[in-house]
Amino acid sequence: MKQIKFLLAAVILLCTAVFAGCGADNAGTKNIAICFPNTTQSWQRNAAALQEQLTADGFTVDVKSSATVEEQKQQIKDALQAKPNCMVIGAIDSAALVDVLEDAKTYNVPIIAFDRIILNTDAVSYYASFDNDAIGEAQALYFEAALNLRNGGGPYNIEFFAGGDADNNAHIFFNTVMQMLDPYIKRGQLVCRSGQTDFNSASVKDWQAENARPRIRELLTNYYGGETLHAILAPNDEIAGVILDEMQKAGKPVPLISGLDGDPKAIERIKNGQQTFTVAKDADVLTAKCVRMIKAVVEGVQPDINDVKNYNNGVKIVPAYLCTPQIIDKTNVQNY
Ligand code: BGC
Repeated sequence: MKQIKFLLAAVILLCTAVFAGCGADNAGTKNIAICFPNTTQSWQRNAAALQEQLTADGFTVDVKSSATVEEQKQQIKDALQAKPNCMVIGAIDSAALVDVLEDAKTYNVPIIAFDRIILNTDAVSYYASFDNDAIGEAQALYFEAALNLRNGGGPYNIEFFAGGDADNNAHIFFNTVMQMLDPYIKRGQLVCRSGQTDFNSASVKDWQAENARPRIRELLTNYYGGETLHAILAPNDEIAGVILDEMQKAGKPVPLISGLDGDPKAIERIKNGQQTFTVAKDADVLTAKCVRMIKAVVEGVQPDINDVKNYNNGVKIVPAYLCTPQIIDKTNVQNY
């Protein structure tokens, strides 16, 4: 009997030790790699928010941030060597990661594409983002309403800027806006005096706001010497900031101008009546969704998904969770 009791105690002890070990493994020992660009403030905000949340939840987090495609490829390669339990990538170039992600398949590392889809590879498991079509729609609808275009408003002069060519999002935003505003251009309610309505002419190289400066200067000099530029499509807040700076230097009135991200500086400009609106992408909202996705992936269960049709990356449809962006203008900026 004594022997049985001893055996029982030993078994209980062993089980406790095993379960305690499992607990520790679920929390502290799961490694998450984050490979993001460091090219804009919004990416830096996203990386910080994600790192903070994951660390608070007991994960070990390896954050890498890069300025160029080549640097990012190397960082992904290095991070994969450590065989993380999950890797989250904000791609600098949506189509440039095919080769480097072959290692992810070899090491069995699940990949989550963050904010930007990763194209042409089946190595990507999930996509956590904002609804990119909804962003383009929100920008176009704002112009439509503010310029009373549905009721025949105009003619208004307008110029268009787009994001960097290597980013799939930039194309989605721009194409959605242009598709929606095209009827008003055709009817002469919107007049683009430069005629630069195609993506290539409008694109700001690598989303680097400073790259928009020479073009807005040139547009103002060549087409708006004596004419008012009423409206400008700016694809994000940093680019809006540079455009507005040049407009001010040239002594031009503040145009109706869009933005994206909800950067603190843009929020200030909206409060001061310098920027008309932004489409805010709350870093905490996307982070919370992404963290839930990471936890599910690490635990091997199906994450929360709300889109299984829109993100065909050329090889597979990537199941996505798309968060809802929010328009901020002078009517609601005080609550933001
Ligand atoms: C993101 C934007 C961001 C831009 C520049 C895009 O892919 O969707 O929110 O402003 O990249 O970083």
